[in-house]
Amino acid sequence: MIVRSFNEMQDEAARFARGLLPRSEGATLVALSGDLGAGKTAFVKGVAKALGVVEHVTSPTFVIMKIYALEGQKFNRLIHIDAYRLKGEHHLKVLGWDDLLKDPKNLILTEWPEQAGSALPASAIQVAFRYSGEDERTISYEGVYKE
Ligand SMILES: Nc1ncnc2c1ncn2[C@@H]1O[C@H](COP(=O)(O)OP(=O)(O)OP(=O)(O)O)[C@@H](O)[C@H]1O
Ligand SMILES: [Mg+2]
Repeated sequence: MIVRSFNEMQDEAARFARGLLPRSEGATLVALSGDLGAGKTAFVKGVAKALGVVEHVTSPTFVIMKIYALEGQKFNRLIHIDAYRLKGEHHLKVLGWDDLLKDPKNLILTEWPEQAGSALPASAIQVAFRYSGEDERTISYEGVYKE
């Protein structure tokens, strides 16, 4: 799937968000991979907007994790993780990670999932982003969620 502007990315992220269904086994996890500037945070902004978040969503690069409360949505919380600065799973564990994973009402979107090591279960929906032109990004979905 190719998106040709930031706004198209927002629309695609909204479409993705609408298709998500909470799972009774635990949190819904989404792993967002791709290089710097590939559009991972732009995608999270679109998901957040579609789920009614009015706060300004910025990349949690230094704080690692930001939690947004959702009102009247299928999820109660949108959790945005930027694992860029993480060194393995131990740092996520101290953030109360195990409890966050258990709650079916959590939607967890993780940038730089490879930095989170084994903390991110393999059941995560995989979304890969690629820079394919100045204003163009290519998105590929893998796993549970299909285009
Ligand atoms: N089609 C597009 N989709 C998404 N973003 C786009 C697009 N075209 C241009 N951009 C711009 O590309 C940048 C994408 O940055 P973004 O922060 O989303 O990347 P990132 O993958 O989160 O990078 P990082 O790994 O540094 O966190 C933004 O400045 C955005 O405005
Ligand atoms: Mg980012």
